[in-house]
Amino acid sequence: PKSIDLAVIPGDGIGPEVTAEALKVLRAVLGDDVALESTEYPLGAQHWLATGETLPDETLTRLRGHDAILFGAVGAAPGDTRIPSGLIEREFLLKLRFSLDHFVNLRPSRLFDGVSSPLADPGAIDFVVVREGTEGPYTGNGGTLRGGTPHEVATEVSLNTAHGVERVVRDAFQRASARRGKLTLVHKHNVLVYAGHLWRRTVEAVALEFPEVTHDYLHVDAAMIFLVTDPSRFDVIVTDNLFGDIVTDLAAAVTGGIGLAASANLNMDRTAPSMFEPVHGSAPDIAGRQIADPTAAILSAALLLRHLGLDAQAGRIERAVEEDVATRTAGRGTAAVGDAIAAAVS
Ligand code: NAD
Ligand code: IPM
Ligand code: MN
Repeated sequence: PKSIDLAVIPGDGIGPEVTAEALKVLRAVLGDDVALESTEYPLGAQHWLATGETLPDETLTRLRGHDAILFGAVGAAPGDTRIPSGLIEREFLLKLRFSLDHFVNLRPSRLFDGVSSPLADPGAIDFVVVREGTEGPYTGNGGTLRGGTPHEVATEVSLNTAHGVERVVRDAFQRASARRGKLTLVHKHNVLVYAGHLWRRTVEAVALEFPEVTHDYLHVDAAMIFLVTDPSRFDVIVTDNLFGDIVTDLAAAVTGGIGLAASANLNMDRTAPSMFEPVHGSAPDIAGRQIADPTAAILSAALLLRHLGLDAQAGRIERAVEEDVATRTAGRGTAAVGDAIAAAVS
């Protein structure tokens, strides 16, 4: 493309701090070659406190008109009693992922040279988690009976559709085919019988279309053992929405920390804009101090460029990050990291 019409949602906490650096790097790498027009949307917990709005229909409609969305993070501090728990997460973030049909939540994990892992012997870590993004227990399909009594019943139903599972499994096979040719389904079919059966059957069926890809299966608990003892065995992990959430925070931790973990919420049918955001949240414990690591947001911007077909520019950001993290000194602030990477890609 000759131009990008970008929506920017900085959000809460460190969201605005890291998003500013991602935007800085995007502007630097695109230079005069691609015109970048960005529109900022004030949304999130602070916006809700000020206006009572989570994600108005009119805002959602405007967001649909952009080429892509760059998002920071939303969410209140755990102790902030003014905001009902999870309100913004559900009515803004999940609503956005569902409405824009972000069925592939792509979360790459790579241990960069020079970055220390908490694992004693990490080996070469380079895998991607293809996390389903629109189903699972995230659909709000639950309820409560006899609330507040000793006989209270609470349910949270995991929704898994043949259509939803098949499209994300096919995407994962395609990615495995383009990578090292290995796909691992992570689930828990010994307990989650019905959904587990659907996921397994779907993987077996789609595998027939990809003879070049080998596939295996791990129960999610055992997968967490291997993520710590032998992470280099993984190439592509495909899993449901909730397992994917949990697996990717551990994956971030073993590859040097949550401050480096990027993600893309992809509508692979391109019927709506995709959204790019760090895996981490609003980190209220460090917000406003310019000490958040903006690298995850910057790498998410690289995923954005790749999704829009700007592979060369995406590669330049990734190489600049590789060089930066290899020579990092402690005590550099958020903007200083962004400045260094922006300078390297200009
Ligand atoms: P979190 O990811 O915000 O923070 C977990 C820990 O990681 C904290 O100690 C934090 O300081 C640290 N951390 C996170 N990002 C960092 C960075 N870039 N550099 C350095 N350290 C970093 O998770 P949490 O504390 O569970 O959640 C805080 C709020 O964010 C909650 O309201 C939660 O619902 C929300 N949340 C939002 C998103 C999102 O918007 N996509 C994702 C996760 C959590
Ligand atoms: C993430 C977050 C979200 C999720 C929350 C905030 C709804 O943890 O993006 O990983 O669970 O998907
Ligand atoms: Mn998460």
